[in-house]
Amino acid sequence: DGGLAAFPTETVYGLGGDALNAQAAKKIYAAKGRPSDNPLIVHIAKLEDLARIAQVELPGENTPDGQNRTEPDPAGESSGHALGAQVRRLADAFWPGPLTMILPKRECVPSATTGGLDTVAVRMPSHPAALALIESAGGFIAAPSANTSGRPSPTTAMHVKEDLDGRIDVIIDGGEVGIGLESTIVDLTGDVPTILRPGYISQEMLEEVLGEAQMDRGLLSDDPAFRPKAPGMKYRHYAPKAQMFIVEGTPGAVRRKIDELAGQDAKAGKKVGILASDESEAEYHYGIIRSVGSRSDEITIAMHLYALLREFDALGVECIYSEAFHTPQMGQAIMNRLIKAAGHRIIDAGA
Ligand code: TXA
Ligand code: MG
Repeated sequence: DGGLAAFPTETVYGLGGDALNAQAAKKIYAAKGRPSDNPLIVHIAKLEDLARIAQVELPGENTPDGQNRTEPDPAGESSGHALGAQVRRLADAFWPGPLTMILPKRECVPSATTGGLDTVAVRMPSHPAALALIESAGGFIAAPSANTSGRPSPTTAMHVKEDLDGRIDVIIDGGEVGIGLESTIVDLTGDVPTILRPGYISQEMLEEVLGEAQMDRGLLSDDPAFRPKAPGMKYRHYAPKAQMFIVEGTPGAVRRKIDELAGQDAKAGKKVGILASDESEAEYHYGIIRSVGSRSDEITIAMHLYALLREFDALGVECIYSEAFHTPQMGQAIMNRLIKAAGHRIIDAGA
């Protein structure tokens, strides 16, 4: 009916509305305070529904006129078929799961949902509550992360309530989410599949399935000449209220540098927060010290990141120092969120 429901997914909580109803999309932007040029991800529950919102023909699928197109045909090399084959391979490997694909959209998707773009972002989440909600709501739910625009994404129903209580119709509480960082976004509309937002599904995992995949250049630099292709990645998202700094270098140098900086701030009367790991937390002497988990367990690090940024906000922390976390699979995603939260403030502690 155009109402809004927050719901759990395996990545973060989403704020859902009917993706094919422009009024619902507008309500989502209003509830979050989100700029309307920042498009929403459409969530589906069945692969058969994909072709209703995206211009893609999956190999091995019956076309609407009943004709089976699995036979090799003269148009077999056309870009439409190549796209369909890529989507099929990605869906087989990663759906339902934390992967979003950017595809050419169909007419029925209102431009309010896609922020005026002629492409649509589509994801099939794996959380059973999300799948049940999508199915019972007719198949297509537009859902950004269920935070107020600019706040860290919610990983519990309580975070959603903090941000959106009174502005939406219902919150479905599914407990703590499993991954804690938003889905990987891959753009399939260009020549080379391009990662617009890193996530749990890494570049290597995509390369294994697609043969090639590149990182959006706009993600890698602070240079305004290369703007991120996902509109949402240009904002200073995931931002705590405090000034945040990431300290890079060898483990020993990082610990000494953070301890020194935190000590200076604490003596100047500032409220300091430190994002540490299980391995390092005992070595700091100043401020509010929180571990994101063990460096050997990157899922735990991803899971705790946003909740700790929220906790520092709630405690009125003015300055946060964070260790860098270049972990094997999710390191690009974790560092992308940290660097954005820190507004690109990185300190080199050296060796
Ligand atoms: O894990 C997730 O993806 C979560 C859960 C709820 O599914 N959703 C999520 O949505 O993170 P949101 O709105 O917070 O982030 C969507 C991102 C934004 O950066 C947006 O700019 C980008 O996807 N995006 C959406 N449609 C796009 C399009 N057609 N082209 C390029 N980027 C697009
Ligand atoms: Mg978001």
